[in-house]
Amino acid sequence: MQVDEQKALELKRGETVNLVYNGTVYGLMEIEDIYCPDKMLEAEWVYQTTDMAHPGVNKLFQRPEFYLGGPITLIKRPEKSKFATFYLEPIETRAKFEELGWETVVGFQTRNPVHRAHEYIQKTALENVDGLFLNPLVGETKADDVPSDIRMKSYQVLLEHYYPNDRVFLSVFPAAMRYAGPREAIFHAIVRKNFGCTHFIVGRDHAGVGHYYGTYDAQKIFSSFEKEELGITPLFFEHSFYCRKCENMASEKTCPHGLEDRVILSGTKVRRLLRNGERPPKEFSRPEVVAILIQGMQEVYTKS
Ligand code: ADX
Repeated sequence: MQVDEQKALELKRGETVNLVYNGTVYGLMEIEDIYCPDKMLEAEWVYQTTDMAHPGVNKLFQRPEFYLGGPITLIKRPEKSKFATFYLEPIETRAKFEELGWETVVGFQTRNPVHRAHEYIQKTALENVDGLFLNPLVGETKADDVPSDIRMKSYQVLLEHYYPNDRVFLSVFPAAMRYAGPREAIFHAIVRKNFGCTHFIVGRDHAGVGHYYGTYDAQKIFSSFEKEELGITPLFFEHSFYCRKCENMASEKTCPHGLEDRVILSGTKVRRLLRNGERPPKEFSRPEVVAILIQGMQEVYTKS
């Protein structure tokens, strides 16, 4: 919990304070710690960079200078106004998985529309487990990511047309994106364990941004933890794409062909296509998804 210096001076250890958002008290915190963190060190350790151009580092430095810490008591849960039917607590998702008879469940984190590469790794994982938990992050993301309400529509249309509905369950992860790459991958995995998953997908440059992290750093970090420490099994996937020679979805691990045969589009390229109302190829994204994205993004661009 961050507060400015003036507030930090007013508060005392041992005191209980209200946690208020927009005038409503959501919880209480019994203050155990009041301190001024070394944000440079925090940035280095969490984000592996102190570059202010990194969106997570930038956010860190925008926040007030002092930190409060201590046990929190929940008073009131936030309203489930946005995506209400897709907003489930961990206890509810666990009950749902049990009801569906799933003993093994693979979790999928995403902050993007689900393109063919995502679909490929999800379905490849699903071949080995009972169910897929599609759990898009719908909290704050950087300004040029596709807004969550457009993404939610795209997930629903994708599931309707291309997924068996008794094998996939969609609910939202109401957190902000930090773009912390490897360390965020660990955080993402632990959260999905809490939602009831037994497995978690980590693909190429998970939770990455720009060129701050190596393509597979978010996979490598898992080897520094014991299995019991995490309590969830990561499933790693290499960079996936459609290959025109294979006439199939494939990955660097399974495709022998060259870059010229592979349909790979950067996020920037996809955004440019959508902005111009142009359709990315069907080998990259399902037409039903593209239709939703073009319509949604056009509305965003005309408003801005
Ligand atoms: S993330 O910030 O949430 O990781 P994104 O929604 O693009 O971004 O990725 C969701 C998951 O799919 C992550 O595990 C990521 O590593 C993986 N992923 C995304 N694109 C690919 C790809 N082309 N090949 C393999 N894995 C991918």
